Amino acid sequence: MAKIIDFNSSVLMIIATITFHLYFVNGWTSSSMYVNWGAHHCKLIGDDLQLVLDKSAGSGAQSKNSYLFGSFEMLLKLVPNNSAGTVTTYYLSSTGTKHDEIDFEFLGNISGQPYIIHTNIYTQGVGNREQQFYPWFDPTAAFHNYTIHWNPNAVVWYIDSIPIRVFRNYQAKGIPFPNQQGMGVYTSLWNADDWATRGGLVKIDWTNAPFMATYRNFRPRACYWNGPMSISQCVIPTNSNWWTSPLYYKLSANKVSEMISIRSKNMIYDYCKDVKRFKGVMPIECSLPQY
Ligand SMILES: *[C@@H]1O[C@H](CO)[C@@H](O)[C@H](O)[C@H]1NC(C)=O
Ligand SMILES: *[C@@H]1O[C@H](CO)[C@@H](O)[C@H](O)[C@H]1NC(C)=O
Ligand SMILES: *[C@@H]1O[C@H](CO)[C@@H](O)[C@H](O)[C@H]1NC(C)=O
Repeated sequence: MAKIIDFNSSVLMIIATITFHLYFVNGWTSSSMYVNWGAHHCKLIGDDLQLVLDKSAGSGAQSKNSYLFGSFEMLLKLVPNNSAGTVTTYYLSSTGTKHDEIDFEFLGNISGQPYIIHTNIYTQGVGNREQQFYPWFDPTAAFHNYTIHWNPNAVVWYIDSIPIRVFRNYQAKGIPFPNQQGMGVYTSLWNADDWATRGGLVKIDWTNAPFMATYRNFRPRACYWNGPMSISQCVIPTNSNWWTSPLYYKLSANKVSEMISIRSKNMIYDYCKDVKRFKGVMPIECSLPQY
């Protein structure tokens, strides 16, 4: 797991070192994103953005704006066939040392073996909150809807409108919640064969390159971040901030039962159950209601 934990900090470092190389892909306007890395081999197919990984490099894109709270929707079709050693990401992140981050990462596998859908959340620079799932569908055969819903009360990860995970605001119990800084939205396709598939045992087979993941209809319905003065505007549950309305404070009973069912069948790792890793001193939120 240590490698997984390091992964996004190195992502951020690399993104930071290449920001002077901003390539704009003309045309992916529907997306509010631009390609920030590897533009020389990315492709635009209609309105879709295809990220490419080959021996020369991976690729990535990021949103033009930063946001504080909202609903962040992306349709995504993952690398098909033998994708072992590749990682495809879709995540929110702020910049700076005490950063916040909300992750979807997709760890590839050899043909016919399941991907791992990896989720995590960092608040004020601290992560270590991984939960992983096997998809209940073939994520390479069609587009699926990966949505992050983030409001002052909770973060919810949805796949095809089924909530798979909730991180509640337990600031009152001393657990930082991402509500003080804006986050940008990022996507990337990487070589991570030192850890991604069966813990690094299975390497990328470059005879299958180039690897491609396709992103469609990125839709941020979210409050713009323009520095700390945005905080007071973005927390107000107005009509335009519908994601903060009391309706979204808690999941409905229906959604809770969908989530419980998916988690019981498809969750393969839960940091809250990893007593050995935390030497018995479990994170506080693990003993509090999770949704
Ligand atoms: C996946 O593999 C099959 C069989 O090897 C091949 O026919 C198909 O074109 C491959 N699909 C893609 C998208 O590369
Ligand atoms: C994607 O899922 C979100 C969350 O459930 C939902 O609001 C949105 O309408 C969905 N989008 C599509 C295209 O199905
Ligand atoms: C790949 O397949 C193996 C064998 O079924 C499985 O143990 C593993 O969890 C799968 N996913 C990854 C990303 O290693």
